[in-house]
Amino acid sequence: MSPLPGRPKAGSLPLGGVERGFRGACSAPAERAGCAEPALCAHSAKGAPVSTRVFVPIDSAALSLGADRVARAIADEAGRRGADVTLVRNGSRGMFWLEPLVEVDTPAGRIAYGPVKAEDVAGLFAAGFLAGGAHPLALGRVDAMPWLAGQQRLTFARVGLTDPLSIDDYRAHEGFAGLARAIALSGAEIVKEMTDSGLRGRGGAAFPTGIKWRTVLDTAAPEKYVVCNADEGDSGTFSDRMLMEGDPYCLIEGMAIAGVAVGASRGYIYLRSEYPHAFGMLQAAIARARAAGYLGADVMGSGKAFELEVRIGAGAYICGEETAMLESLEGKRGVVRAKPPLPAISGLFGAPTVINNVMSFASVPVILARGAAFYRDYGSGRSRGTLPFQLAGNLKRTGLVERAFGLTLRELLYDYGGGSASGRPIRAVQVGGPLGAYVPESQFDVPLDYEAYVAIGAMVGHGGLVAFDDTVDMAHMARYAMEFCAIESCGKCTPCRIGSTRGVEVIDRIIAGEARGRNLALLDSLCDTMLAGSLCALGGMTPYPVQSALKHFPEDFGLIPDQDKQAAA
Ligand SMILES: Cc1cc2nc3c(=O)[nH]c(=O)nc-3n(C[C@H](O)[C@H](O)[C@H](O)COP(=O)(O)O)c2cc1C
Ligand code: SF4
Repeated sequence: MSPLPGRPKAGSLPLGGVERGFRGACSAPAERAGCAEPALCAHSAKGAPVSTRVFVPIDSAALSLGADRVARAIADEAGRRGADVTLVRNGSRGMFWLEPLVEVDTPAGRIAYGPVKAEDVAGLFAAGFLAGGAHPLALGRVDAMPWLAGQQRLTFARVGLTDPLSIDDYRAHEGFAGLARAIALSGAEIVKEMTDSGLRGRGGAAFPTGIKWRTVLDTAAPEKYVVCNADEGDSGTFSDRMLMEGDPYCLIEGMAIAGVAVGASRGYIYLRSEYPHAFGMLQAAIARARAAGYLGADVMGSGKAFELEVRIGAGAYICGEETAMLESLEGKRGVVRAKPPLPAISGLFGAPTVINNVMSFASVPVILARGAAFYRDYGSGRSRGTLPFQLAGNLKRTGLVERAFGLTLRELLYDYGGGSASGRPIRAVQVGGPLGAYVPESQFDVPLDYEAYVAIGAMVGHGGLVAFDDTVDMAHMARYAMEFCAIESCGKCTPCRIGSTRGVEVIDRIIAGEARGRNLALLDSLCDTMLAGSLCALGGMTPYPVQSALKHFPEDFGLIPDQDKQAAA
């Protein structure tokens, strides 16, 4: 992919490819539904059903940058001018540096303007933006923008495009086609589709989804559950949130398909407490899906029941670990359970339970709708399909990029991210959350797939990238990794509970230059113990960021590698 230009020239809009439209409907979440706030939800300034649709994201990232104020300003200005505008609150396209990104539906396609402030709105109207008029904030046709045009959006296909709460809109964009196909298949046939697709869990561990579903299907029990892990605790990650806020029916459909497949009649979404907007959106979407017969006692007339509820998380990183999450869901403190038994055999309330990440469930509808082979065609090696990569940290352009596995960090950091925001060289990237390794510049060309990353001692995880420029102190980052583990440890096993605290102390001594050789050997041995002896990946993977920092950036610890080896010997 060629580097992205900062901003396409206004006025040079390619023609053709008008996106499918629908009659404007309120897209505000639960507490706003029913036009409680008409100023934010102007179906039409005149109440007429045919008008120009203007899209203003309702995604949290856009809201934090003033999207509500922009929506209100557009409604007010339309009222003043007597312009017939239907305001639709869509999801984010994942170009955060352009939020709030406003789109106008014109015969030439959806024309984007951004980043828009409330103060810009009168000028946009004056420039004729309702007809796609030229303006310094004009970005051209949104689907032709380089950030989006090169992506392979399978799970994010509808996010930003549709009205998140409109079932008609969802259906018009292939929604519920996967569920319709699933109810015509047997459980074993659905599971086979999942296995053949090659989908692996997107929550971090990359376990094959089909194998997990097969275990639950094959375990006879009077009650089974489907649980979605929406705790999304990894640093620099937000794809789950964006999907839940921008296309909640996709998650609902994926979970309903899982329920139909394994014979579970009840599901729970375990949502982190920091996501109030996603909560509102999910509550509203679940109510509408139930009313339309996609959830409830008779899913799409299949005679099969599937009920869904949202549960708010406890605000601890460890509650994202699947067994601690089950404890929390059962109303207890989030402490890790020893395995076996696997949750697929004895999970929530002791019943066989499918547990998947939001992105794993969100991949299910397209797999069922288009078939396993379609999905499997994307990817590299044993990493099949696509992953929504999340670009965060010190980058010019941050946001979400969904691409097939196999692209490189360098493409993401420079072609998409535009390099560091500070203009300095990017020195390290933490990939895969707080337990992921720090990847140095020399490894930026390794293809992003699960096995290739394991081969360099790193992990792809949930697809979060946090970039650091050359001012970062990697010794402090290593210390921070141990400290994070000490703070977030559930305390059940000794290597993690005690080891992480001792780890902070040992790193402090290395940084202070105290008996470096001896303390390095001690840290090495401590990391070995944590890797091999921890009950879960919090303690078991904390050595990854620590050891990668030491290996790739020894100078930050005051070490000359050869001298270290002599000292440690
Ligand atoms: C400390 C810790 C935190 C985790 N946090 C999350 C999380 O926030 N979301 C998630 O989906 N998986 C998380 N996981 C992974 C889950 O334990 C589990 O593997 C995952 O939910 C299974 O779904 P998947 O197969 O679709 O990935 C975490 C694991 C550990 C050890
Ligand atoms: S590794 Fe840490 S978080 Fe995991 S079970 Fe042990 S003490 Fe708990």
